[in-house]
Amino acid sequence: MMRRITFFLVAIATMASLVTLVAPAPGQADGQSAAPYVTEMPPGYRDWRWISSTHEAGNLNSTGALLGNDVAINAFREGKIPFPDGTILAALHYKYVPSDENNAIFGQVQSFVPGAPTNIQFMVKDSTKYAATGGWGYATFVDGKPADAASMKSCFPCHEKAKATDDVFTRYTP
Ligand code: HEC
Repeated sequence: MMRRITFFLVAIATMASLVTLVAPAPGQADGQSAAPYVTEMPPGYRDWRWISSTHEAGNLNSTGALLGNDVAINAFREGKIPFPDGTILAALHYKYVPSDENNAIFGQVQSFVPGAPTNIQFMVKDSTKYAATGGWGYATFVDGKPADAASMKSCFPCHEKAKATDDVFTRYTP
């Protein structure tokens, strides 16, 4: 009789621990780590200082300006790696279009300017809050609205390739 009860208790304990192993942690829908991402636009970003500009050709055909808050600018200038908590980078992206007005003056197509905005991407450094993604919180906003969580999963795995510069690709343009 005692043996049967013991066996029964052990069986229950085993099942309970299996359930704990398999069950997703609170706030995680699929049991994978649901890394937090940034859903609020950092205020004042349009007044931040310029770090550098980019142009991506091909299908994207975009141009971008990278701006940084004071913590970011100081870190770039001092070559501080890793970037300190409080660093925020803002990448403002636009279509890359010829300027008809300017080209009429030049008499040929040689002037290209930012066209319609496509998105704004942010990287926010908080080594505690965003520990799961290298200390950076990632964000994409289209028309001021945050992208969905699923589309934010690609950011860190690619940015991690810039490990030597704390997951940041852009260099400071003097
Ligand atoms: C396939 C690789 C790849 C993926 C995926 C990717 N990025 Fe980037 N990102 C880059 C590269 C390369 C640059 C620098 C060149 C440029 O800006 O065009 C960059 C630049 C940036 C910058 C400017 C700071 C820096 O590191 O130079 C921000 C901000 C940014 N990405 C945010 C994001 C966000 C948010 C996501 C996810 C939605 C994301 N990126 C996904 C490759 C990637």
